[in-house]
Amino acid sequence: MQVLNTIDAVREWRAGSESVGLVPTMGNLHAGHLALVAAARERCDRVIASIFVNPLQFGPNEDLATYPRTFDADRAALAHAGADAVFVPSVDEMYPEGGSATTVDVSGITEMLCGRSRPGHFRGVATVVNKLFNIVQPDAAFFGEKDYQQLAVIKRMVADLCMDVAVEGVPTVRDADGLAYSSRNNYLDNAQRRQALALSAAIADVVERLAAGQRDFRALEARGWAQLVDGGFDPDYFEIRAADLGPAERDTSSFRVLAAGHLGRTRLIDNMGVSV
Ligand code: PAF
Repeated sequence: MQVLNTIDAVREWRAGSESVGLVPTMGNLHAGHLALVAAARERCDRVIASIFVNPLQFGPNEDLATYPRTFDADRAALAHAGADAVFVPSVDEMYPEGGSATTVDVSGITEMLCGRSRPGHFRGVATVVNKLFNIVQPDAAFFGEKDYQQLAVIKRMVADLCMDVAVEGVPTVRDADGLAYSSRNNYLDNAQRRQALALSAAIADVVERLAAGQRDFRALEARGWAQLVDGGFDPDYFEIRAADLGPAERDTSSFRVLAAGHLGRTRLIDNMGVSV
């Protein structure tokens, strides 16, 4: 597997007519990321992952400085998973002017859910993903459904800007006990790791009730919120939405239940879908 550190090197690697799949990551790879590589491997002739902890998507009080950086293990995992190349640019390579005067704002779906407590986060994500698309020129790009709102934002950006990239969502990978894989799980101590299960459990409980026909959305959201509090979380949101993140209605046929909350200083998110 080739390790590429510059935009020029990626463009040279990209040349040719074979299809290319891109797996954008911030590193500290886990089974969720490797499922993205597997999906890309299945669909494309060549697979490139990127590892870049993107400063533009972190707020001033967030974990940019402490975000886990584990390049040697990531490189080994990607090679084992069958990636052909990994793009690992420096901050200077991506933002030579120190930032980006040009940014991408996807309005409408970025102000809700995670966007409410992380203003500017999705601008940072959309901007860096746009740059990665311009650099790699992938035929397809692969994102986890664990970051469901991020996936929706990227799909919307690609549609609105007529970008020639197929955006593929890959189902969330969970540990045996139900906790979704996340790099931020590494921040949890043993007690918090046990408490973290309340997140997937509360969402699964509400999904089950929706599947059984319950439609009192506000009461179900309050129930999910209370389960998070009982489990030790400081909840950020617990919401039932339509699969496209529009409002849930009584006749909605595909729901998404999304939640976020803090355990100590660690913010975790998760979501599940249900079609009825
Ligand atoms: O999901 C992530 O790891 C990041 O938000 C992404 C898509 C790599 C952009 O920095």
